[in-house]
Amino acid sequence: MSAKKRISIIGCGSIGTQVALAIKDRFRPVAELVAVCEIHSEKKEIFDQQLGFDVPLRTLLECVESSDLVIEAACQEVVPDLLRQVMLLNRDLLVMSVGGLLLDPSLLEEVRSKRVRILIPSGAIGGVDLLKSAHVGKIYSVELTTKKPVEALREAPYVIQAKIDLDSVLGEKLIFEGKASEAIRAFPQNVNVAATLSLVGIGADRTRVKMMTSRHLKKNVHEIVIEGEFGRASFVIENEPSHKNPKTSLLAAFSAIATLEKALFGLEIGT
Ligand SMILES: NC(=O)c1ccc[n+]([C@@H]2O[C@H](COP(=O)([O-])OP(=O)(O)OC[C@H]3O[C@@H](n4cnc5c(N)ncnc54)[C@H](O)[C@@H]3O)[C@@H](O)[C@H]2O)c1
Repeated sequence: MSAKKRISIIGCGSIGTQVALAIKDRFRPVAELVAVCEIHSEKKEIFDQQLGFDVPLRTLLECVESSDLVIEAACQEVVPDLLRQVMLLNRDLLVMSVGGLLLDPSLLEEVRSKRVRILIPSGAIGGVDLLKSAHVGKIYSVELTTKKPVEALREAPYVIQAKIDLDSVLGEKLIFEGKASEAIRAFPQNVNVAATLSLVGIGADRTRVKMMTSRHLKKNVHEIVIEGEFGRASFVIENEPSHKNPKTSLLAAFSAIATLEKALFGLEIGT
């Protein structure tokens, strides 16, 4: 019998915890969690309680060294560093903070020329498979409208810098419209889907993003419209927020686990 795949997780929050539970139960015959990296000790304590045992706490580099596959579920800022380290040590990397892949375009080019395996789950959206197929032909436009509850946007750099008074929002309000490359910096914790669409489709400067909010909204909603040589496609995804983190959709963790399943068992269905 072949050895189990050694996995480490960066970030013991909402997604990290759900993925760790899946490794412990669903993937037990083929994978084991060997280390985690977490900057907040209280998050690590809760994580261990939920798993039922103490997972070794390591630095970012130690996590990469000790595992075959690293799962990033922390924040955009760690991604460039992680990319450098997995390239150096020839490890696989699953990235949830997809916006981090666009912070240093030269690094992404380097990744493309190396033999490392970078897994990017569809995350909180559907339609990535269609966009991948459509990209074989010409794509004319990709538009994403994201609607989030007021609470999910309070700490966004753009909201703070532009002094947007979210408490005065009554009905639905458009608070940002622009390129995905701008949205990724303006709403780093909210626009991973814009980053994913940009990477698969026509790039962060041509992918258009609108960010809307409403006091009455309880779900994270993504509306995607793709036009190209293939025709036109539109998707509406109404996401339930994660129980632990209202900024994150439940589907995002499900998508990470489904991507892990594909990587561990090798059965690939869909584009
Ligand atoms: N691809 C997608 O569609 C998608 C969807 C939802 C969330 N995300 C992204 O996935 C990431 C994780 O989301 P979450 O809901 O689990 O967030 P979370 O806030 O619940 O958990 C993140 C954890 O990472 C830890 N952390 C932050 N910086 C760290 C660092 N430098 N080193 C180690 N640990 C660090 C935090 O303390 C926290 O415990 C976020 O960046 C989020 O934006 C992506």
